[in-house]
Amino acid sequence: MSTVSDALEALTDLQPDRARVTADILYGLSQRPRQLPSKYFYDARGSALFEQITRQPEYYPTRTELQLLEQCAAEIADVVGPRLHVVELGSGSGRKTERLLHALADPVAYTPIEISRAALLASIARLAQALPAIEMLPVCADFTQPVDLPAPQRPAARRLLFFPGSTLGNFAEADAVALLQAMRQTMGADGMALIGIDLHKDPALIEAAYNDAAGVTAAFTLNLLARLNREIGSDFDLDAFQHRARYSVPRLRIETELVSTRPQRVHVAGRQVDFTEGEAMIVEYSHKYTEASFAALVASAGLRVTAQWHASAPAFALCLLQPA
Ligand code: TRP
Repeated sequence: MSTVSDALEALTDLQPDRARVTADILYGLSQRPRQLPSKYFYDARGSALFEQITRQPEYYPTRTELQLLEQCAAEIADVVGPRLHVVELGSGSGRKTERLLHALADPVAYTPIEISRAALLASIARLAQALPAIEMLPVCADFTQPVDLPAPQRPAARRLLFFPGSTLGNFAEADAVALLQAMRQTMGADGMALIGIDLHKDPALIEAAYNDAAGVTAAFTLNLLARLNREIGSDFDLDAFQHRARYSVPRLRIETELVSTRPQRVHVAGRQVDFTEGEAMIVEYSHKYTEASFAALVASAGLRVTAQWHASAPAFALCLLQPA
């Protein structure tokens, strides 16, 4: 039993501090090509813009996954069993989880792990009201770092890690394998993970999803620079960088970049960073999968796909993973 104030009191706050953000950004800027970690998109405004992206007509993944969850929720609930501790990586608004939690048999507790404190608090306030029988144990943290999970008051039968939104695709392959290995540790020998993955399809459809006509995605990627200017004292000129997202067919991934529109010098935490005209900083990969490429990826982390649910046109899958 959890009220909104219980849920807020239970908050574990490990939000990355300014020193952490600065160190990650300076490291990324020292790489060639320069690269900014996409987890820092999600400040309060970034999370709100991302919610808007998920409602754009071109951005098919969220609606497709929500529909798929709706259609298969009863079957998923049967396969995963009762009395779960559900742990979500990058929970955002928690809209998808709400559907899952409603379908599960007697879920014990829910732990959303979310880097944006604003998004986390808003989602927990809503979910605690909608699902008062579930103990809410929120954690504000970067889920790529080890987190000691809070223990539910009532014992759970097992952990189910929920990782929707094809967020796994936002990691370079080696990082995705490391994350899946960490998830295997976290779930335990009898645990499971339910992962949403976007599947390879017509490149024009994929590219449109990351270049919406209303320009919300462009505003979202540029907001990263605004956030850094405010939080770590950089002076990126938002008018001198442009959003670009292209699908690489050989690599099966969207490559989202911020491109410098002129030669320029930026100051970041006391360092000078020079950009040439046309120089691109990578801000995000969104890998797409085939059934075979995903099976191979999880196998290299000691996991296997034990059940899967597919949407077609646009193709998207929810996969259940267990230790191999
Ligand atoms: N996980 C989402 C995806 O890869 C995140 C996302 C959607 C995103 N649109 C974006 C990240 C645009 C950066 C830029 O689809």
